[in-house]
Amino acid sequence: MALIKASAYAKINLFLEVLGKRPDGFHDIKTVMRRTTLCDEVTVETVEDGRGEITLTVQGNDNIPTDGENLVYRAAEKYLSRAGVRDSVRIRLEKNIPVGAGLGGGSADAAATLRALERIYGALDSTEILDIAASLGSDVPFCIFGWTAVCEGRGEIITPITDKRKMHLVIAKKERSVSTPLAFSRIDEAKELGKIPTAPQDECYSALLKYLANEGELPTTLYNSFEFSLGELEEDILDLKKKMQDFGALTALMSGSGPSVVGIFPDEKSAALCADALLKSGVFAYYSN
Ligand code: C5P
Repeated sequence: MALIKASAYAKINLFLEVLGKRPDGFHDIKTVMRRTTLCDEVTVETVEDGRGEITLTVQGNDNIPTDGENLVYRAAEKYLSRAGVRDSVRIRLEKNIPVGAGLGGGSADAAATLRALERIYGALDSTEILDIAASLGSDVPFCIFGWTAVCEGRGEIITPITDKRKMHLVIAKKERSVSTPLAFSRIDEAKELGKIPTAPQDECYSALLKYLANEGELPTTLYNSFEFSLGELEEDILDLKKKMQDFGALTALMSGSGPSVVGIFPDEKSAALCADALLKSGVFAYYSN
């Protein structure tokens, strides 16, 4: 019997450009992802009983599936099969990251499960782990890597970048959610209607990389293609951004396909005050550095 606990960290996108639709139905993207301190906890326990059964229990959110629909379950299934292991695995997932939020919570949980199983069995090499990760979802390889990176392709091609910044962030989300496939299809429609700036966002991207490397100021506007096709989310996003700006945010951007908004603050005090006020108004809010 072995027992391992692993933290599953939410990601944010500080830059996200959807480049174009591919023949396989996915979209090529170019994004800068960064790990936050907001996390779920995954506990993996293995039993040498030759049964190969997987059981998943979830705490902190009653709406999460505990079967093969859950990425954690599928991650364990794929790891055991690839590693040729017949042990049973019991997994406990403590959810803190909001679901359907653009924060990669499910992907982080799957990555933490793979990391925990690899710590127990040590049966696969890093290429095999990343291979399983990519087969589970576009954001899972980043969550395996875990620190700031440029992610390309459909998100699975990871290039680490220098990140020397201590950031003061508020991550906030209202109740309404949006499904990722729907958000991508809205981008296709918005592009056809010419609603998305088509010029490459090179300047914004380079300025962000310089800022992260501590070689330049924070760009005043950050870019996320999804912000140009928000549909019914528009009001929520604008409201959260305005509240963050009222508390002194230097800038605020939607993360991933939304609807979480990330505000970047000059110091911990102003960020904590903002997070507090948002929480009091009934909105999910979290201070992260
Ligand atoms: O990879 P993941 O399972 O997270 O993707 C969910 C859905 O989001 C895909 O089925 C696809 O519709 C869309 N997607 C996309 N391009 C990406 C990532 C996701 O079109 N780069």
